[in-house]
Amino acid sequence: MSLMATADSDELRQQLDEWKRKAESIAFVPTMGNLHEGHLQLVRAARKSARRVLVSIFVNPLQFDNADDLSAYPRTLKQDADALAELDVDLLYTPSAQSMYPQGLQQHTQVIVPRLGDILCGAHREGHFAGVSTVVCKLFNQVRPDTAVFGEKDFQQLSLIRQMVMDLAMPIKIIGVPTVREADGLAMSSRNLYLSDTERQQASKLYQVLQQVGAALLKGDQDYDGLQQTAHASLQNAGIYPEYIEILRQSDLRKARPQQDRELIIVLAAKVGKARLIDNLQVNLDKGQL
Ligand code: PAF
Repeated sequence: MSLMATADSDELRQQLDEWKRKAESIAFVPTMGNLHEGHLQLVRAARKSARRVLVSIFVNPLQFDNADDLSAYPRTLKQDADALAELDVDLLYTPSAQSMYPQGLQQHTQVIVPRLGDILCGAHREGHFAGVSTVVCKLFNQVRPDTAVFGEKDFQQLSLIRQMVMDLAMPIKIIGVPTVREADGLAMSSRNLYLSDTERQQASKLYQVLQQVGAALLKGDQDYDGLQQTAHASLQNAGIYPEYIEILRQSDLRKARPQQDRELIIVLAAKVGKARLIDNLQVNLDKGQL
C-alpha cells in the first residue's frame, strides 16, 4: 500500500482544497514520529471520525528545553510511513523546521495558554507548553481539520489544547484516546526506548503506584496529601526519581477537594534512569471506576 506524503505546505494546501471542494471531512493526528501502538490507536480513532485522515510528523524544536533531548529524539520516518500506509492514512505531512520557523525559533509568534501551560510538566520544562500550543495552532491553521486526535497519556497537553481551541474559537473537535499500555501496565512512549533492562522493570512501578492511589481513592481515603506522599516514597524506594505525583480534578487540573470533586485524575512525572516518563490514571468516584 502506498502513502501520499509531502513536506511542502503548498502541496498540502492543494490536496486539502481538493478534499474541501468535495466536502470531505478531515481528521488530523499530529505526532513527532517514532510511532508505536499508542499512536496507531490515535490514527484508528481518526479513521472512524472522518473521511480523510492526515498525520503529521514533526519533531518540534520549540517544545524541547534541552538540545541533547532534541537531538537524541528517535527519528524513524521510513518505518513510520510503512505503519501509516497499513492504516490507510490519506496523507502524511512532514514539514521541516526551516519551513515551520523560517525566521528562527526566537522570532516566531507564540501561543501561550496561561496556568495550564505553567503547572506540572510546565513547571519542570521551561517553554515546553508554549512550544506545543504554538506548533499545534500552526499545524491546525495549515491542515484546517474538522477533528484532531490526541492521546490521554499526555493529559496536560490534551487539556491545554482543548483550552486553546475554546479560547481561540477554533472550529475543531478534539478527541482524546485512552493510553495504550504494555502487558505490565507501562504506558507506551517513544521515551521507553531510553530504558535499560533494569530501568524497564523499575518503570512498571509507575502504573502500580497509580493503581494503588486509585484504589485508595475508590475505598474512600480522603487524605490526598498523605496518599501523594506515600506514592512519592514508593517510587523513590523503587529507584525512581518522581518530579510530581498529584491528585487533581480532571476538568481543569486544579487540586482535587475531598468530598466535593468526583472526577479525579492522578498525574505523575518521574525520571527512570535518563528517561523522563509521565503517566496518569482517571478515577471516577461516583462510578467507582479506575
Ligand atoms: O504529543 C506530541 O507528540 C507533540 O507534543 C505534538 C502534539 C505532536 C506537538 O508537537
